[in-house]
Amino acid sequence: MNILLLGSGGREHALAWKMAKSHHCDQLFIAPGNAGTAQFGTNVAIGINDFEAQKSFCIENKINMLVVGPEEPLVNGVYDFFKNEEALENIVVVGPSKEAAQLEGSKAFSKKFMQRHKIPTAGYAEFTKENYEEGKKHLSKHTLPIVLKADGLAAGKGVVICNDHAEALQVFEDMIINKQFGNASNKVVVEEFLDGIEVSVFVLTDGKDYQIIGHAKDYKRIGEADSGPNTGGMGCVSPVPFVDEAFMQKVEEQIIKPTVSGLQKENLSYNGFIFFGLIKINDEPFVIEYNCRMGDPETEVVIPRLQTDLVAMFAAMDNGTLVDVNIYTDEKKYATVVAVSGGYPGDYKKNLKISGFEDLKMLQDSIIFHAGTKQTDNGIVTNGGRVLTVTSVAETINDAAKKSMKVLEQIHFDGMYYRRDIGYEFD
Ligand code: AMP
Ligand code: GLY
Repeated sequence: MNILLLGSGGREHALAWKMAKSHHCDQLFIAPGNAGTAQFGTNVAIGINDFEAQKSFCIENKINMLVVGPEEPLVNGVYDFFKNEEALENIVVVGPSKEAAQLEGSKAFSKKFMQRHKIPTAGYAEFTKENYEEGKKHLSKHTLPIVLKADGLAAGKGVVICNDHAEALQVFEDMIINKQFGNASNKVVVEEFLDGIEVSVFVLTDGKDYQIIGHAKDYKRIGEADSGPNTGGMGCVSPVPFVDEAFMQKVEEQIIKPTVSGLQKENLSYNGFIFFGLIKINDEPFVIEYNCRMGDPETEVVIPRLQTDLVAMFAAMDNGTLVDVNIYTDEKKYATVVAVSGGYPGDYKKNLKISGFEDLKMLQDSIIFHAGTKQTDNGIVTNGGRVLTVTSVAETINDAAKKSMKVLEQIHFDGMYYRRDIGYEFD
């Protein structure tokens, strides 16, 4: 099978690493990829939203499968584009339709979906310019803290948690009136604050059946002991000690099953990953958000733990036999530690030379996944805020995180920073 993978982050490096191991994978191409994905396939200079260029490439290179890493092309309708083109319609597309991708692309859509299917989530109300005054009244009576969410995609920055009413009113005005996130904040979801511990669960579904492929805990804050601003993710662990069988059973019965049957009842075409962002309150799971893709850096622990052939799973998803797939997961503990460029999640420099890779070829229990990197004539340089992540396996989470830090101690670029406390609350 010839496969085209869209994306260029650590998630895509981990997916490329995994798919390249499959005997079902003949040729692997990554658009646009990074210096890490190039070790497992051929990077091609095509943008993730350039569907016409993807079409020509797929025809020329006899592509059989398109695997979509990030949410943007899915929300923009890459699935529908491929299915509506005669020359492309037989390509297996791993990712939901445009309509179903609204589970991530519109917070209001996902809240209504959860309400219709009685899926536990925070209580909410939605507002636009039309009912702005009503929204202000709602906010001033709301219990604290108040969660405000831009409806559309906002590059992970569209959620603000406010600890007083004046701040909430200001954020509300910034989003709706001042268009802080452009059209993405034309509509705002105002939500109850859920106080608990977060964990993410990952499922592959064909819209009828599903398989749980793993779970992970992400460390979102830039600073140690979960301090400072939110980032795309500074590290992850899997398995998560508090996710026991009893909790997973609740997740499956109260959340996963009603979600998948909801997709089916509403005729929403879904052939891909569902990322359930959950919060656990007194042993009960609630949905904070759905994403229509894998997480980053969650993929970098979930995929190395997964022992089942991923390409075979994608093929089974496409031909209606997903339910027959056996999922094997390594029982050992995995941790990934993300190295970022100085200044991230604010402004940061690019094109910084990365050194130290050369001596690291024989890593026993660790894998380096590239995120924001680029191969140049001058070697590998940084090309983003999150630069690379090191995943390690050990008998304990702490040992896995320590192994990753040992690897990171040998890699250098100006202003490199990583958290030294990933998994600190466990073991
Ligand atoms: P989201 O983009 O929906 O994942 O939200 C980003 C982060 O905001 C989540 O990972 C949570 O940490 C936090 N968050 C979102 N919604 C809530 C909520 N209702 N209660 C508490 N925290 C929330
Ligand atoms: N790490 C969070 C995300 O991928 O959305």
